[in-house]
Amino acid sequence: MILRDRVAIVTGGATGIGRAIAIKMAEQGANILVSDINEDAANETASHLSSFGVEAAVQITNVTDPKATQAMASRAIDQFGKIDILVNNAGVAGAPGWYERSASTEEDWRFTYQVNVVGSVNAANAVVPHMRKAQYGKVLNLASIAGREGRPSLPHYSSSKSAVVNYTQALAGELAPDNINVNAICPGLLWTPMWEQVGGRYAMNDPQYAGLEPRVVFEKMIAATIPFGTEQTPEDIGDAAIFLCSDEASNITGQALNVDGGFFMR
Ligand SMILES: NC(=O)c1ccc[n+]([C@@H]2O[C@H](COP(=O)([O-])OP(=O)(O)OC[C@H]3O[C@@H](n4cnc5c(N)ncnc54)[C@H](O)[C@@H]3O)[C@@H](O)[C@H]2O)c1
Repeated sequence: MILRDRVAIVTGGATGIGRAIAIKMAEQGANILVSDINEDAANETASHLSSFGVEAAVQITNVTDPKATQAMASRAIDQFGKIDILVNNAGVAGAPGWYERSASTEEDWRFTYQVNVVGSVNAANAVVPHMRKAQYGKVLNLASIAGREGRPSLPHYSSSKSAVVNYTQALAGELAPDNINVNAICPGLLWTPMWEQVGGRYAMNDPQYAGLEPRVVFEKMIAATIPFGTEQTPEDIGDAAIFLCSDEASNITGQALNVDGGFFMR
């Protein structure tokens, strides 16, 4: 129970990786505020979290709106009295309908940066004053292996995740004097609805994947790029998250941890 009685906000916590992080944290004793734009899924996740004997609540939050992220932080304080952990997980791979296009539009660039980068900044800006007051806190940002090196086909997404890694380092330096750790995780290849769409984009753009089903693209990419030869799971990311947000990792800050089966060894 390495997070017993901690309070964590997980943005985009209703589904996918965010949900798995929230579950892993609840298993370790943390109370959770599930923050998302998907109300039905957020409610379902929160009621599942309660089955671990912790307190869970939902705050509908669009992270691109600074007023909404301020309301998210206030809700956590009202409900739980403190905020120990912020997980900036909410993310998108493009503007609505991006996967039907073969090239990135200006709207893809704007929308993706707005959610992945500015959304993380908004949430941190809302939460950090409370952490500073407590002289304690953990901020964890979800980047991607796409942020380690520009990937073809999704330039707007790759560069937004690179910005998340850079922001992690900048914020870590700024907040270290207040005993606040800031780290990132770079997930590898996970078979989620997001990757199903990514696979479709590769099949559209890359001749070696032309005409293949997204799952086949996914498997071929794993075989070609991942030394362990296996896909990663939301639970893998959750395991890394609980470590980085625990006091076991109190001397780790400004780092981006690849959880990618060896895809990148740097
Ligand atoms: N799936 C992968 O293979 C993969 C790989 C590397 C990194 N990531 C990153 O991990 C994170 C989670 O990805 P996922 O695969 O679980 O995606 P997902 O689409 O399954 O979940 C994203 C969640 O964020 C929420 N969300 C979207 N926009 C939001 C907004 N403006 N405000 C609040 N919530 C919002 C969605 O409702 C959803 O619940 C993302 O940051 C993603 O970029 C995913």
